[in-house]
Amino acid sequence: QKLDMELAAIEKGNFDHFMLKEIHEQPQTIQDSLRGRLNAEQGTITLSGLEKIQDKLREANRIVIVACGTSWHAGLIGEYLIEELCRLNVEVEYASEYRYRNPIVSPKDVILAISQSGETADTLVALENAKKQGATIFGIVNVVGSSIARLADAGAYTHAGPEIGVASTKAFTAQLAVLQLIALKLAEIRGTISNELFQTLLRELDDVPAKVEWVLKNQVENIKAIARGYKDAANFLYLGRGYNFPIALEGALKLKEITYIHAEGYPAAEMKHGPIALVDESLPVVFVATKDVYHEKIVSNIQEINARKGKVVAVVSEGDDAINDMAEAVMVVPACHEIVAPLVAVIPLQLLAYYIGVERGLDVDKPRNLAKSVTVE
Ligand code: G6P
Repeated sequence: QKLDMELAAIEKGNFDHFMLKEIHEQPQTIQDSLRGRLNAEQGTITLSGLEKIQDKLREANRIVIVACGTSWHAGLIGEYLIEELCRLNVEVEYASEYRYRNPIVSPKDVILAISQSGETADTLVALENAKKQGATIFGIVNVVGSSIARLADAGAYTHAGPEIGVASTKAFTAQLAVLQLIALKLAEIRGTISNELFQTLLRELDDVPAKVEWVLKNQVENIKAIARGYKDAANFLYLGRGYNFPIALEGALKLKEITYIHAEGYPAAEMKHGPIALVDESLPVVFVATKDVYHEKIVSNIQEINARKGKVVAVVSEGDDAINDMAEAVMVVPACHEIVAPLVAVIPLQLLAYYIGVERGLDVDKPRNLAKSVTVE
C-alpha cells in the first residue's frame, strides 16, 4: 500500500493528480496520435489499418460507431466528420443498447469501435455479435493487445499512453485526432473532398497540439478563478451546436464525474424545448461557442439565457468580442477551423471540471462509484 502510494507520487511528477497531469500531456499525446500518420508538409495521411479495409469501405452502405461513455462522445463527432467529409451514412450507438436490440447488421456494414481500455464489456459483446453477422470491425483503441483490439479486423491505435484518472481526458482527444485522420483519409479514398480543403484541414490538424498548449499556458489561472466562482452551483447546463454539441455533452459528463454536480448537455437550439425552463439567476450555462458557421445563432441563444438571468460562461475563440461582452466569464481558445475545434474546445471544460472538483475537496482521480474500465454488464 505504502509502496503503491510512493509509486503514484513519482508517476504524477509535479502534478497534484493524474487527471491534471493527463490534461497537460495532451499536446504531446495528440502529437503522438498524429505522428507517422499525418504529414502536413507533403499533404498526405498514412493509415495502414484503414488502407487494409479500403475495398470494404468503398462499398460500405454505412458506418456504425459503437462505444460507451466518453468514447461515445468522440463517436458523435466522428459521425459529423465522416458524414460531412465522406458523404457516407453514419450511425452512433451506445454499445449497451446495440447489443440487446437485435440491430440490422449486414456484411456491407463497417463498425468503428471506440474504446480507451479495449475491455468494456458492452462494447466487446456488441462487436462480437456484429462480427458474427459479417460486419467488418475497425478498432480505435488505446490499450495495445486488449480484447477489442484483438477482435477487430483492422484498426488504428490511439497513442495516449496509460490513462490513470478515471475520467477520460487525453484518451478522448487522442480518439478525436484519430477520427479526424480516418475521416480525411476516407474522404480521399472515396474522392469526396477537394484537394484544397484536404490540405487546409491537414495543416489545421497539424496545428492542434500547439493550440492546446496555448490553452494550457494561458487559461489555467483564469479557469481556476472561474471554478472558485461557480463551485457551489447545484446544476449546470452545457450547450453547443454542430461539432461542439458533443463537446457540450462531454463537458457536462466531466463535471458530473468529478464534482458530483448535476449537469446536462444539450444542442443549443434544443434548449427551448425544455431546459430553458430551468434557467434562473442560480444556473450557470456553459456555451461552447467557438467561431464557426453557427456563431450568429449561438449568440442569439446566449441572449436568450441572459434575458432570463442565467449566468453565461462561454468557451470562445480568441478575439471574439461579441460574446466577451455578453458572458459573465469566458475561457479563450485559439481560433481554428470548426472541424478541428472540438479538440481545442474540450480542454477548458476538462480544466473547469478538474478545478471545481479540487475546490470541493474531492478525490478527482477516483470519483465515487465509477470504474476506469467497466468489464461487467
Ligand atoms: C467508463 C470510464 C469512462 C469511459 C467508459 C468507456 O465509464 O469511466 O471514462 O469513457 O467507461 O470506456 P472505454 O474504455 O470503452 O473507452
